[in-house]
Amino acid sequence: MTKTNTIDSIMELAPVIPVLVIKDPAYARPIAEALVVGGLHALEVTLRTPVAIEVIREMSKVDGAVVGGGTVLSEGDLQASLEAGAQFIVSPGLTDRLGTTAIASGIPFLPGIATAADIMRGLDMGLNRFKFFPAMAAGGIPALKSLAAPFHQCRFCPTGGITQENAAEWLALDQVTCVGGSWLVPPGRPDIAAITANARSAARLAVLEPATRFQSRA
Ligand code: 3PG
Repeated sequence: MTKTNTIDSIMELAPVIPVLVIKDPAYARPIAEALVVGGLHALEVTLRTPVAIEVIREMSKVDGAVVGGGTVLSEGDLQASLEAGAQFIVSPGLTDRLGTTAIASGIPFLPGIATAADIMRGLDMGLNRFKFFPAMAAGGIPALKSLAAPFHQCRFCPTGGITQENAAEWLALDQVTCVGGSWLVPPGRPDIAAITANARSAARLAVLEPATRFQSRA
């Protein structure tokens, strides 16, 4: 298991965080291995299946994998994810209760936001790294550009409707550190070669360094 301890270091591991909905724990390790071999290290296991906690435990055994719990909605979800070895937590939104508990636990935390009020609630709690969700349905790139402008201290991981085809455009935004998406691992019996190839293509997507971005604007 690879260890990292800040949300920035997790968001910077690769341009893409795979969002995983795994229904059979037997697939957990081969899928995690394929993603890591392809160059993607931060893996978000969504708590949308009854076996998700077991999947976090299995994937955490894979060298090079930094496994997080996703779709974390409650303190119970958070606790179960931590006990299974999750190294970061992603939630689709931000409540005071979940935010307070996540911060107190010390786990790197990436809550979802879709409005200025959501971001301001996060800032009040000391958070400034957010998942922009649902990215496409909430207005796509124009929405995030407008939303991010007053919040220069914030960085985002857009998720929801991101694909290999549109990811680069999102990654070119100044305040986008990485994107998340489920396209890397389609539902059903995993095709390991295809997952590895998807991961390789995703890992090659460019993320411009902030200094380069400012130069390219001049
Ligand atoms: C998420 O939970 O982050 C999204 O549901 C993933 O969205 P996608 O399936 O459109 O990538």
